[in-house]
Amino acid sequence: MPTQNSIHVVILAAGQGTRMRSALPKVLHSIGGKPMLAHVIDTSRELNPQKISVVYGHGGELVKQKISDSDLNWVKQTEQLGTGHAVMQAADAWNDNDIVLVLYGDVPLLKAETLAEVVRKGSESFGLLTVHLDNPTGYGRIVRDEHAHVVSIVEEKDANDEQKCITEVNTGILAANGKQLKSWLENLNSDNAQKEYYLTDVISMSVKEGIVVETIHPDSEYEVAGVNSREQLAELEGVYQEQQAQNLMAQGVSFQDPSRFDMRGHIETGQDIFIDSNVILQGNIKLGNNVRIGANCVISNATIEDDVIILPMTVIEDAVIGKGSRVGPFARIRPGAELKTNTHIGNFVEIKNSEIGDGSKVNHLSYIGDTTMGNDVNIGAGTITANYDGANKHRTIIEDNVSVGSNNVLVAPIKVGKGATLGAGTVLTTDAAEGELTLARVKQKSIKGWKRPTKKSGK
Ligand code: UD1
Ligand code: CA
Repeated sequence: MPTQNSIHVVILAAGQGTRMRSALPKVLHSIGGKPMLAHVIDTSRELNPQKISVVYGHGGELVKQKISDSDLNWVKQTEQLGTGHAVMQAADAWNDNDIVLVLYGDVPLLKAETLAEVVRKGSESFGLLTVHLDNPTGYGRIVRDEHAHVVSIVEEKDANDEQKCITEVNTGILAANGKQLKSWLENLNSDNAQKEYYLTDVISMSVKEGIVVETIHPDSEYEVAGVNSREQLAELEGVYQEQQAQNLMAQGVSFQDPSRFDMRGHIETGQDIFIDSNVILQGNIKLGNNVRIGANCVISNATIEDDVIILPMTVIEDAVIGKGSRVGPFARIRPGAELKTNTHIGNFVEIKNSEIGDGSKVNHLSYIGDTTMGNDVNIGAGTITANYDGANKHRTIIEDNVSVGSNNVLVAPIKVGKGATLGAGTVLTTDAAEGELTLARVKQKSIKGWKRPTKKSGK
């Protein structure tokens, strides 16, 4: 860090967010599958703050419940009397020598590099993040003197016509010395159009004490954009997704259409990956080199090793897909599935909590659950491992080189020995011997003279 002083982050999250028209507190609405407040917390962590205080109010209990970080200092603001009042609630939690950085739980796309700059200025004097907007309506305006030094911030509702023409606006994000900030906050009054304790009034107070307010600007307006409505939430979601796709392209991922891709989590990638349209990746994802993902796949918390092909319409959750495997189209790979190398999992196949050995194939219409399958096994179409007796789950073991015919039911717990073959239509209820053909079905016969039933007259 460029500063010696420790950083105390204060995140304001007490606003009600009425325009969201939601029972959910605004800061819990998600961008990229993660609550906005969690984005702000995680970004601020990149500065290694000593402490993070979150000022909560409306629906606060739910906010505390959903944001599970155990090291946060939760501060309740029972009445929303203004941004200055909100920051004041956390003042007892910071030390005089801290650099206090004020952030907002509904401004989710800020970059840590930008914040680091604000903090750097804050440690020298006073750091204020401002932005020039074509339409500054609604924002606090940055008032500068003839030497272009910041002298104050005037809120829209308190501004005169001349001030309303100023296009440089306050983002609300600032950093200042803890002791000074506290003394200014203690002297705030609510003598203004909104009868609120304005955080923005600390600017003129600091200037009066001879402290130079240094301004920093974000790379893009989106960094400082707040969310007040679902429309704005959707807009920032779009920006966020565009950024995710751009990051991935920079790392060696190609998209058929980067605007039709959703990332909701964290990803590690190799090179020469191709992702077709409408793919959703969520949770923790690892993609190896030369992975291809077909259209309309939803993949959550998965490791997909090198040279894997995922065909369209496949759903994968909490699973590992081994090198060189081919999965789908229309496959469902459920939690605990571990596909080893060069496996083939085909259409309408569900795999749950099972290990599928090297080179094994389950190509059509099958359910494989709680199964340990060896290498080079071939499972015929329509095979079911009956793993559940209505009360408990049982395991199926299928050893190397087994060939299972079509339409088999393997009633677990059961074992199919190495190299065994099961005939089509087998309902297997006891273990199948190694290397042998096992059949368990009604032997085919034709009944001479059998007639279909006919309708009885008079009924
Ligand atoms: C504030 C700034 C304004 C700036 C704008 C940027 C002040 C007085 N004005 O105005 O200069 O251009 O942000 O968006 O600071 N909050 C609380 N408790 C409160 C009041 C607010 O936690 O008592 C939180 C809200 O949840 C919100 C944030 O603070 O996240 C900003 O509050 P809001 O009332 O929306 O500020 P603005 O009027 O937009
Ligand atoms: Ca307000």
